[in-house]
Parts: sequence; structure tokens; C-alpha cells
Amino acid sequence: MKTILVTGGAGFIGNCFCKLLLKERPEWKVVNVDSLTYAANPSTIKEELKNPNYVFYKTDIRDREGIFNIFEKEHPNIVVNFAAESHVDRSIENPGIFLETNILGTQILMDACRKYGIERFHQVGTDEVYGDLPLDRPDLFFHEDTPIHTSSPYSTSKASADLLVLAYHRTYELPVTISRCSNNYGPYQFPEKLIPLMINNANHDKPLPVYGEGLNVRDWLYVEDHCRGILSVLEKGRVGEIYNLGGHNEKANIEIVKIILKELGKPESLITYVTDRKGHDQRYAIDPAKAMAELGWQPTIMFKDGIKLTIKWYQEHKDWLDECTSGEYLKYYKKMYGDR
Ligand code: NAD
Ligand code: TYD
Repeated sequence: MKTILVTGGAGFIGNCFCKLLLKERPEWKVVNVDSLTYAANPSTIKEELKNPNYVFYKTDIRDREGIFNIFEKEHPNIVVNFAAESHVDRSIENPGIFLETNILGTQILMDACRKYGIERFHQVGTDEVYGDLPLDRPDLFFHEDTPIHTSSPYSTSKASADLLVLAYHRTYELPVTISRCSNNYGPYQFPEKLIPLMINNANHDKPLPVYGEGLNVRDWLYVEDHCRGILSVLEKGRVGEIYNLGGHNEKANIEIVKIILKELGKPESLITYVTDRKGHDQRYAIDPAKAMAELGWQPTIMFKDGIKLTIKWYQEHKDWLDECTSGEYLKYYKKMYGDR
């Protein structure tokens, strides 16, 4: 029996990863360490809590003693670090917490790995570390050796963490891998991100706030395909390597918003163009050739199907959305969009 410690397992992608493990690796024990920030709705993990192969610790990855105690008790073979502050707009308002969680939290986890011994530490990274590509050069893509060139405090904190992970490999021979994925979509994503925010607003006939002209391009991957990619890296990837994960699925934001409105039967008059994000990255586009060739990984869910599944899930889980959008969220929404 292997023990895999997943941080951030109550969040959007980490929870999907835990679900995948419990389903497809029933001989593994899954230990979820999550401090349950605003981004984690506790009801997300209610099914997993019933599974005897799953343990949950409400602990902050910045809490060195707390993390070391968990390692002492659980002795994980593998650690996968999803825990992060993940929203670019929040990083523009308040960068400090991004540096603390995303960089120093990663350091604490790797220090625990060094002390207790580990087969693999996997860092869940993002394509945002490569900066952006111009809209008029559709021939360009991010490769693993594309220089780091970050734009936002979020992407800078994630790039710093990646560099620290590689430093722990080189200096202390910690067996690490890194995956860098494009934008994810699917169930359980907190409605501060584009797709669930637009679904939620459309459901309430509220304006859909599109930044700038809505022409920025993101490369979308269904969340379960991302999680399968991470599992492939754990099982087939080479230590010390970086793997880009993406599905060549580029869409301008405005296209996404229109697809959502059409699917929900709501009018395009709900679209409202608002002041652009500061430093807004133009285009992200991953070249996943290395992961495909080395790991045999490839996306399985086409965007046209994945977006329908996603919208259907949010329609069937309005309670979950309501839980996320009460209290703090209302203040957040007012601050970010109030007089934008
Ligand atoms: P999320 O914001 O939905 O979830 C983050 C989770 O981490 C939450 O459950 C939160 O409670 C937890 N967390 C935050 N700070 C913590 C701390 N200090 N200690 C313990 N737990 C803490 O994020 P997500 O979208 O699921 O992203 C997960 C990871 O994947 C992040 O590292 C992110 O950078 C990366 N990533 C995300 C995307 C995307 O499109 N969402 C794409 C590529 C990479
Ligand atoms: P987001 O989901 O925040 O992901 P990221 O910035 O990490 O790619 O945003 C995706 C795109 O959607 C990005 O170009 C910003 C844009 N966007 C809007 O136009 N309006 C919004 O309300 C939000 C949250 C995002």
C-alpha cells in the first residue's frame, strides 16, 4: 500500500485528483492536507471523507510543525503539491499571501520530504510561468525550455516555487517532477474564475464582466485530463523533469462567454465589457508533445463535450455554488467588479 499526500485536495483540481486516485488506485491511501481557505468549499470533499482510504488534515502548508507532524504520522511515499493561492486578480490586490503560500509553503513541504524521505515530490505548476504569447503569432507555443517570463504576482510566485523545486533536486537530490498545465475547467471550480463566474452570473441574469475586449486567449483542458496527466508523470515521468500538459484548445474569452450564454439560453445583452486586468496576459498556448511522447498521455475530453458537462454540473449543483457565493464572496465581488 502506497501513501500519497495531496496538498490542496479540497480545491478544484486537487479534489479531482483525489477522486481519481480513490477510484483508480484503490490500493493507495490518500492523505489530503488543506487549510480550507476561501477557495475550498468543505462540502466538496464530503464523499471522500466516507472512504476508508482517505484521511483529511485541516493544516496550512506554511505551518512547519503541523506539516512535519503529518509526515511523522503518515510517512507518505509520494507528495503532490496542489495547495496554492491560485487567482491572478487576487494576486494583483494582495501579492504577499501568494509568496507565502506558493513559495514558502512549497519549501516547508520539501523540507519535510528531505527529513522523512520520499519517492517523489511533484509540484503542480502552471503555463503562466512562461508569460504570454502575442495574439498575432499563432505559430508560437510554450515548450518546457521556453524561458520563464512572468507577468502577475501569481505567476511569479509559481515560477519561484518551480525554481526552488529544481534547486532542491540539484542541491539535495530530492526526487522531484513538475507539471505545467494550461487553464482547467470542470466541476467544483470556485466562481471567481472565468467559466464558473460567467455561469453563476448568467443563472442570476447578472452582467457578465468581460475584461478589455474579450480577445485574450486561453488554452483550456478538462480538469480530469489534467489529473490523469499528473498521475502519468508520477508513474512514468523522469525525475528532475518538467512536463507541459495541455490539449491545443485555444479560445478567446468572448467565445467562451458566448458558448455559456447559448448553452444556458440567456441573451448576449448580458455581456458587459469592463476595465481590463492590469498586465493582462494575451495568449497562453501549450505544446504538450513531450508528455504525449514520453508518458503516452493525451487529453480524452473534447472542449465541446467538456463545456457541456461542466455547465450541466453547475446547473445540477446550484447549492454548491450558493455556498461559495455567500458571505465573503459578496464583498470580493463588490470590490473587484463594483465600479469597474
Ligand atoms: P484552488 O484555488 O481551487 O484550490 C487551492 C486549494 O489549496 C484550496 O483547497 C485551498 O484551501 C488550498 N490552500 C490554499 N492555501 C493553502 C495553504 N497555505 N495551506 C494548505 N492549503 C491551502 O486552485 P486550483 O485551481 O485547484 O489549483 C490547484 C493548483 O493547480 C495550484 O497550484 C495552481 O497554481 C495549479 N494550476 C491551476 C490551473 C487552473 O486552471 N486552475 C492551471 C494550472 C495549474
Ligand atoms: P481566469 O479564470 O482568472 O484565469 P487566468 O487569468 O489564470 O487565465 O481568467 C481567464 C481569462 O478570463 C483571463 O483572460 C481573464 C478573463 N476574465 C474576464 O474577462 N472576466 C472575469 O470576470 C474573469 C474572472 C476573467
